[in-house]
This record gives sequence, structure tokens and C-alpha cells, in this order.
Amino acid sequence: MSVPRTAETGSTTGCQGRSIAGEARFFIRSEEKQIPRCARDDSLRSPVIPSEAQRSEVRFQDSGGVHRTPETGESAFGCGLSRAALLPAPPVHRVSASEGYDLWAATYDRDPNPLLGLEERALQPLLPDARGKQVLDVACGTGRWLARLLSAGARSGAGADLSSAMLHAGLSKVGLRGRLARADYQALPFQSGVADLLVCSFALGYIDDLVPVGQEFARVTRPGADVFVTDLHPEGHARGWRTGFRYRGESFEIGASAHSIRAVCKAFASGGFELVRSVEPRLDEPERPIFEQAGRGNLFDRVRHIPAVLICHFRAPR
Ligand SMILES: C[S@@+](CC[C@H](N)C(=O)[O-])C[C@H]1O[C@@H](n2cnc3c(N)ncnc32)[C@H](O)[C@@H]1O
Repeated sequence: MSVPRTAETGSTTGCQGRSIAGEARFFIRSEEKQIPRCARDDSLRSPVIPSEAQRSEVRFQDSGGVHRTPETGESAFGCGLSRAALLPAPPVHRVSASEGYDLWAATYDRDPNPLLGLEERALQPLLPDARGKQVLDVACGTGRWLARLLSAGARSGAGADLSSAMLHAGLSKVGLRGRLARADYQALPFQSGVADLLVCSFALGYIDDLVPVGQEFARVTRPGADVFVTDLHPEGHARGWRTGFRYRGESFEIGASAHSIRAVCKAFASGGFELVRSVEPRLDEPERPIFEQAGRGNLFDRVRHIPAVLICHFRAPR
């Protein structure tokens, strides 16, 4: 039997997860489920072809990045207005999710990020009490939500992500060692019916067809489980906001699609999920300092009225 490796080992073997001692009740062995080869990244997302307007974009956040918008012709945080007036915007490298997150991983948790801050502020109060629950963080990246749920008293938990670099970054967080596996969220390496609570944060846009995702989430959750999915709001996407970051002084953008609330609900209904509620928070005063610290307070006032994040709470069928 070939044993797929995990973030623990420093290398990976495609999309398969593995049993990990201590959390064996979560992880299935690779031969228990035929996990398909990962779709190539270019089939996971449609590349974003920038319009001329988008070439002179504003970045929400220059160093760590999250989104840039073509709403003004001014330059990025930290680049200065005079430069924007005199020079064309620097080129943006468009990369796949796997290329992008491998580069971004080292700084993903380090730099303040207004959308992650907003999402945490909006999602935390919606989450049920994690105490005693078995939790899954799907497309967990560096395990942002898994770490929170475990520290909130979850009985047990695990995370999966396609990027080994993001998973490695997560290993430095308390309690995550032995709980992370590299896997595609369309074919999770978890046993069926294992999760009371599943969070999938800022990752649905990396796949066009959400139906298999809804069905896979249905497989790994218990009857009546709570499932929370979040992503960049489609309205922000329609205005040209894109996931981006800076690496060694250069700008990168990760291609993603936007899913409407209707499309997300339809896909999850195919897994039997019922929508409990959706919320569409906007940036507000708690995020203002992030913009101001980057010298972009004026941009904050222009974008704060736009729904920035989509959060859907689903319940698994009983
Ligand atoms: C913006 S990050 C979000 C990470 C984490 N959920 C958070 O909110 O901090 C998006 C993550 O989705 C992961 N990802 C993209 N496509 C995936 C897929 N098909 N299966 C699993 N993970 C995927 C990326 O590797 C990346 O870590």
C-alpha cells in the first residue's frame, strides 16, 4: 500500500489524505475510498482576464493582500499617489490557486487582512457552541478556523487543504499537529458522518461546479450538523475585487469565480442541506484602521457600502 504523505512530512502525494494517529476516527485510509486525481488548477477556476480599467487597480492591502478593485485609478497601498499618477500600474502575475497559496503561505497569517477580519467578526457569533463537537475545517489553509474551534472546546477536529505550504504554515499553531491533511475538498479524506460542525472559508470560488462539494460535505457530516461556508461576496467580485497578495515586491492575483447565493444554495440542496440563513456583511469601523494604517482611508469610505463577504449557514438533513 502506498502511504500518501501529509503536511507533517513535508511532501505530498497528489490529493490523498492518510490516517493520522490520534485522529484516526476522522481520517480514512487511502484504499477505503477511491479518491480521484485532483482536477488541474486551470480546470478548478476560470482565469481572470483584466480589463483595461482593472490594470490600474487599487489594492485593498498591499503587503499581505486580499482584494484589489478597479474602482479608482490610484495605486496600491504603500505605492503612493504620485507614482500612480506618473507610472502605469505594475504588472500583476495571475496564478493558479496552488501556485498562489504556495507563495502566499508564509505571510498569510502575518499581515492584517480586512476581509478575514470582517468574516471573523460576522461568522463567530453565528457559530454554535463548539464544546464537545467534532469539527472539520475544509480548505483550511493555515487552519484559521480549526485552531479557533479547538480552542473554543471542540472535542476533536481536523482540517484539509490542497496547498501543502498553507498546511505547513498551520503546523505552527497550537493543537494542529496531526490534524491536517492535504486533500481536495471534493474528495475529503474523512470518514462519513464524522462532523457535527464544518467550516469552509473563502474557498468555494476555486471550483466552478459546487454540486460535488455539497454532496461531499453531506457525506462527512452527521445528521443535523451545522455547515458554514464563506467567500468573497459576488457583488465585490462583480466590481473587480480579486484575491491578491504581494510576494518579494511583486503583485499576484489568484483566479477565482464568484458564486451567487442562489447557486450556492442550489448546490448544497443537492446534498440535502437546508439554508438556515445567509449574511452579507460589509466592511465597517473595525476594518477602518487596516486601511488607514496602509494610508488608504479614502478607499475604505468608497468600498464600505459594498457587501464584502457572503456567509451561508446550512443544516444537514436529520
Ligand atoms: C483564501 S484561502 C482560505 C484558507 C482558510 N479557509 C482561511 O479562511 O483562512 C483558500 C484556501 O483554499 C484552498 N483550496 C483551493 N482549492 C481547493 C480545493 N479544491 N480543495 C482544497 N483546498 C482548496 C487553498 O489551498 C487555500 O488554502
